[in-house]
Amino acid sequence: MDNEIKQKLIKSDKDNIWHPYTQMADWVNDNPSEPLIIERAKGSYLYDVDGKKYLDGVSSLWVNILGHRNPKIDRAIKRQIDKVSHTTFLGLTHEPAIELAEKLLNILPCNIEKIFYSDNGSTAVEIALKMAYQYWLFKKEDRKMFLSLKNAYHGDTIGAVSVGGVDSFHANFRSLLFRSYFAMSPYCYRCTYRKKEIKFPLNVNGFKDYNVQMGCQGECIAQVEAILKKNNKKIVAAIIEPLNQASAGMIVMPKGYLREYSNLCKRYGVLLICDEVATGFGRTGKMLAIEHENVKPDFICLSKGITGGYVPLAVTATTNEIYNTFLGKYEELKTFFHGHSYTANPIACAAANSVIDIMKQDKILEKLQSKIRYLEKKLSELSKHSKIGDIRHCGVMVGIEIIENKETRKSYDSKLNIGAKICDSLREHGVIIRNLGDVIVLFLHLTVTKREISKIVDTIKTKLDAL
Ligand SMILES: Cc1ncc(COP(=O)(O)O)c(C=O)c1O
Repeated sequence: MDNEIKQKLIKSDKDNIWHPYTQMADWVNDNPSEPLIIERAKGSYLYDVDGKKYLDGVSSLWVNILGHRNPKIDRAIKRQIDKVSHTTFLGLTHEPAIELAEKLLNILPCNIEKIFYSDNGSTAVEIALKMAYQYWLFKKEDRKMFLSLKNAYHGDTIGAVSVGGVDSFHANFRSLLFRSYFAMSPYCYRCTYRKKEIKFPLNVNGFKDYNVQMGCQGECIAQVEAILKKNNKKIVAAIIEPLNQASAGMIVMPKGYLREYSNLCKRYGVLLICDEVATGFGRTGKMLAIEHENVKPDFICLSKGITGGYVPLAVTATTNEIYNTFLGKYEELKTFFHGHSYTANPIACAAANSVIDIMKQDKILEKLQSKIRYLEKKLSELSKHSKIGDIRHCGVMVGIEIIENKETRKSYDSKLNIGAKICDSLREHGVIIRNLGDVIVLFLHLTVTKREISKIVDTIKTKLDAL
């Protein structure tokens, strides 16, 4: 692109736009490298306006699952545009949404029988929270609290933030939020019990009985039980990101944790919401993370990968037990009064139908398994590096925790912003990844090649060597 035009675009961006999760003072005033202006994409690569290509190592913020410009998804979207791009879903319906609900119900566990559409991950969660709350209202039980985990991330709308446990994102809003219980996060690498820094705050006996393979006594899951045992009649629902607290830096749960969490919800009569917004659609190596531990929640939230990362769509899927409580005469006002202008957008549904077909026809998950094994091998070699404290991975989701001292697990001074610096410096090598604090995050799409995996991991190693 002509440099004059490019500089005009950059100036216009800086003058007029407020970017999400971005310190705009840095973006506008203190950004020595020019912002990347992406013009097009193909497969694993993004191309900027100067034609330079970059490996997309974060799947465009965790949404892309089959690479960019997949010809089948492109065609499905174009075909739908030729019919209708959008129509309301309040009082009308359409074929792509009907077809998609059937396809989804074939993928979801057998207890899930209804699909409610919306348009992003936060609203999928918001809807599950509201449905669960109203369910107990109709059952004439006075329940107002939720149970979540520290380090949980479920989106940025107020309900989703109320069950969010990432202080840097959520603390400013606390006084606006509804109240939730938070059990400790199963963050084994930084487990405070391991270091015996604080005493177990709740008096729970018998936690050795939990079937969780974490090489400790399972204090984190014991805390979940303690909260449920004491407060279950006040709790509307427990919410969890199954297997991986992704936004907190890929905190991968120990094997068995999710299963126990689900068992405890059942034992204490509390509804379970599994937020599969990040983990769903193959990212863990199976279609859904809950399949790894055979969990059947009352609600499943899906978004991100559902359309292959093309257009926004979300789903809150639930049981007939929940759905049936909302049935009645109109004047009883049991209707679920919640909907969005772009609910079940037909283009998005057409893209999602195409994604599910491709995953099946092209055996995407079967082919993914050897790539996951290759990634594991590469990460295991990398983990020996003196600047890496912990590498956590779950399928193609990876968190590489950078530390100053491997022995003491001491982190770098946060002012150094070391994670961001490493990720920024990877751009000159044609790799785009993002950090979460000092955790370098890889979020690979399902059709990534072994060569691309090597390129990303080897480039990170080169940068760490230079630290
Ligand atoms: C587990 C989880 N839930 C919800 C969300 C929110 O999704 P959205 O950004 O589409 O609102 C995210 C986003 O990263 C997520 O990781």
